[in-house]
Amino acid sequence: MSDLPTGVERRTLDGRERLATRGEPVYGEPTDGAWRAWDPRRSKLGAMLELGFETGFRGGDDERVLYLGAASGTTVSHVADFAGPTYAVEFAPRPARDLVTVANDRRRLFPLLADARMPAQYAHVVESELDVVVQDVATRGQARVAIENRRFLADDGRLVLAVKARSEDVTADPAAVFERVQDELTEAYEILERRSIDEYHADHFGIVATPR
Ligand SMILES: C[S@@+](CC[C@H](N)C(=O)[O-])C[C@H]1O[C@@H](n2cnc3c(N)ncnc32)[C@H](O)[C@@H]1O
Repeated sequence: MSDLPTGVERRTLDGRERLATRGEPVYGEPTDGAWRAWDPRRSKLGAMLELGFETGFRGGDDERVLYLGAASGTTVSHVADFAGPTYAVEFAPRPARDLVTVANDRRRLFPLLADARMPAQYAHVVESELDVVVQDVATRGQARVAIENRRFLADDGRLVLAVKARSEDVTADPAAVFERVQDELTEAYEILERRSIDEYHADHFGIVATPR
């Protein structure tokens, strides 16, 4: 089992041991003082940590993160609780509004209403040489999005990617979709770890990769 990032702990909350971070609650999760549970069923990154993926996250103020597909902030709020500057890209205005509310309580979280397929839209805001890019966009062309955003990652940085098979092709066998996504990714990344996260999210794969 890999180490959890600093700022993420296993704590007993609501009678069960759960992953938790310190911050304002966001989605009705159980809390205990400053700690709030991180629900792996609501979060692919949470599921990957729960399943022991080596995500490369260390935690701490100097860890810089780009999060693609932030939606209303469920997962990225946890990231901003334990990491440093966290740029959160979401292209749908409705969830982005909620994301702005979540960011009001988090000085290290920077919401960006932008399309992750067009990094030029946010390249003037987001730093380069980032430590981690997390991607959970649930759209067609997930490998291409990761490749386009490689420009923001340091050479020893990590891509932490949740791939949803049905977003690529509803009819195809998920295993075949994952192979295709992986093959395409190798154009820009070396894959370090890949596993199903079906236990928490049906037909999803988790991938950790580093730039080539
Ligand atoms: C599965 S949800 C993300 C859930 C979120 N990561 C969480 O765990 O809290 C996928 C999100 O990606 C967004 N999305 C899809 N394509 C996108 C794109 N090209 N650019 C930015 N956001 C995108 C969708 O609007 C949606 O909110």
